[in-house]
Amino acid sequence: MVGRPRKAAGDVVRHPVFARFYTRLSERAEPVMAPVRRELLSGLSGRVLEVGAGNGLNFGYYPGTVSEVVAIEPERALRQLAVEAAQRAEVPVDVVPGAAEALPVKSEGYDAVVLCIVLCSVRDVARALREVRRVVRPGGEVRFFEHGRAPGRAMRTAQAGLDRTVWPLLFGGCHVGRDAVGALRGAGFELGEHRELLMPERGPRLPSSYCVLGTARRP
Ligand SMILES: C[S@@+](CC[C@H](N)C(=O)[O-])C[C@H]1O[C@@H](n2cnc3c(N)ncnc32)[C@H](O)[C@@H]1O
Repeated sequence: MVGRPRKAAGDVVRHPVFARFYTRLSERAEPVMAPVRRELLSGLSGRVLEVGAGNGLNFGYYPGTVSEVVAIEPERALRQLAVEAAQRAEVPVDVVPGAAEALPVKSEGYDAVVLCIVLCSVRDVARALREVRRVVRPGGEVRFFEHGRAPGRAMRTAQAGLDRTVWPLLFGGCHVGRDAVGALRGAGFELGEHRELLMPERGPRLPSSYCVLGTARRP
């Protein structure tokens, strides 16, 4: 299935304006994001599936122990940029259209799955994580970096209001109040090391500042 573009799967997500905005924003955020991306991917080996790869900014951080990355990206403009980033990467990266809720890859084919700021944007988190569980081998890892639910009640209320109204419309389907760790547990993953962090670390807290970086394992 990999490498054979399927129009229906490839066009499930169409956010051309967000794609342009995200490309500029993510490149500007790279000085802050680079250490996070490096930590997210450090020590990975074997076959890796990256879900929602965007413009491919993770590709430069995969260690040489990774034999192959298959990168799923549904948004056409971002996928094109990811294809260009794949050509510059030091490990082989195959960029493929598709959506997290119906991953176009075979079961148990991957040593690890990478989720980087993507659970906020998928349409159906539980279904996406069932798919992640299907495609990672038993004992395989999920590496995740996600923003989500704030610890304090006031910010949580603000996040819930934004998620019901403008945030997903403005930011390509993104939600700020999701609970990535709870969703991973609910999908049957065993949580490994993980830590909360604020992005940006200093300055005013934004609804999207509350992040978690870590690992989980398919039992
Ligand atoms: C905030 S961007 C993050 C991009 C990239 N992972 C990064 O670290 O820069 C969210 C990404 O999720 C993708 N996305 C949205 N809905 C998706 C879905 N249902 N399945 C897979 N990816 C999706 C978007 O197209 C976008 O590339």
